[in-house]
Amino acid sequence: MTIRLDYSNMIATSVAGGLKAPSWTRSAKEFRSTHAEVQKLVASGALGFFGLPTDRRLLQQTIRYSAEVEGRYDDVVILGIGGSALGPIALRTALRPYSWNAIASAQRSGFPRLHVLDNVDPETIGALLDRLDLARTLFVVTSKSGGTAETMAQFLIVRERLAKAAGGWTGQNTVFVTDPEKGALRPVARKEDIDALEIPANVGGRFSVLSPVGLLPAALIGIDVAAMLAGAEDMRVRCETNVLAKNPAGCFAMLQWMADRKLKKNIHVLMPYSDSLRDLADWFVQLWAESLGKIQPDGTSVGPTPLAALGATDQHSQVQLFMEGPKDKTVTFIAVRNRAVDLSIPAAYPEVPELSYLGGHSLAELIGVEQRATAGALAARGRPNMTIEIDRVDPWHVGGLIMLFQIATAYAGHLYGIDAFNQPGVELGKQFAYAQLGRADAEGARREWDALPKPDPRWQV
Ligand code: PA5
Repeated sequence: MTIRLDYSNMIATSVAGGLKAPSWTRSAKEFRSTHAEVQKLVASGALGFFGLPTDRRLLQQTIRYSAEVEGRYDDVVILGIGGSALGPIALRTALRPYSWNAIASAQRSGFPRLHVLDNVDPETIGALLDRLDLARTLFVVTSKSGGTAETMAQFLIVRERLAKAAGGWTGQNTVFVTDPEKGALRPVARKEDIDALEIPANVGGRFSVLSPVGLLPAALIGIDVAAMLAGAEDMRVRCETNVLAKNPAGCFAMLQWMADRKLKKNIHVLMPYSDSLRDLADWFVQLWAESLGKIQPDGTSVGPTPLAALGATDQHSQVQLFMEGPKDKTVTFIAVRNRAVDLSIPAAYPEVPELSYLGGHSLAELIGVEQRATAGALAARGRPNMTIEIDRVDPWHVGGLIMLFQIATAYAGHLYGIDAFNQPGVELGKQFAYAQLGRADAEGARREWDALPKPDPRWQV
């Protein structure tokens, strides 16, 4: 079991538009200081996500809770947004038990369905709540800060529905996942005796998927969370080295950063060739964008733009742009060596060339060949790309991928000279929303909002 990164196609020895080999070789020295700075942060306790794979207490807490409620629910609904939602969605799509080894037993698996709201669109939420059997549904209110407007609104609506259904609110069918101390949810949990699992104080939202944020929903739907943490830990250990050539997250971060700074390739595409991994690409988009899109101390705005694509589907959509559009992209493929299921393509119509060549091959072969062909085609046109190959989509490999991207983000934050762990840029929009909703502490924002230029009829059609 391993995760391999092949970045030959990022280097000019293979791809005309790639990084010059000597410059890549020299970057090993710079990586040593990046690695040292990140290790310092880890040692200071600031980067809690590094410790999640070995946090037995959190794992036990999660497993105990999910065992306690086993069989009680048909549906689990995550109330949350951003980092509190994208991780659970990615895990569900990649690992729900009937995707890898339980296809035959899907119907009798006995695990609840998992829904993740990740928005406040009343049409979606209304429709979901209307069709759930509330007595057989568990609501997992997930918020690190315990105060996010969207999640709190979701909670208030669900709370009222549950109260109506049961003739009063008792905290039934509800569990919180939140900070151990801070935020609005923790005191509510204490006062109303609602179960509450922890997101460690030093773990930020988009780095929290290996905490109960992702572990609880995963465990509830039967994913082997211990294997996922083992895969993550394996990757963490691989990234202990400051030797760039041996550190997968280091290579990924350094290659992307150098491609941006030296080659002006600041759009970073992640393109798994696997339906199961399509939402992992979405999760990566949030991680890379919200962590790295920042203002440096001298006022310069930096940050690559991540883009999710799906192979082979996007060969018939975005790949034209990747091949011939502006030379501002790197493409990272995720290739899967073994598929849980394969279908052989029957031979037929020997006289029709468009059909006959397919016979005798399989879909796993086709999707694999197409990934390599697309990588080769990009390379042939001087478009840098790299491939992360995993043996199969299972909890161990998904845990490893998650850790790889999280550690790479920490390195990239240092390379870009910014704080990868905050998100000050989203604050003003939040304040303007509070102002319009009449939140008492948003008076300053209210004045700024009121002073904004109003829509101008000359520029409307
Ligand atoms: O990465 C982050 O910190 C954010 O994307 C948060 O996950 C998101 O804003 C939701 O925050 P919270 O979990 O505090 O409700």
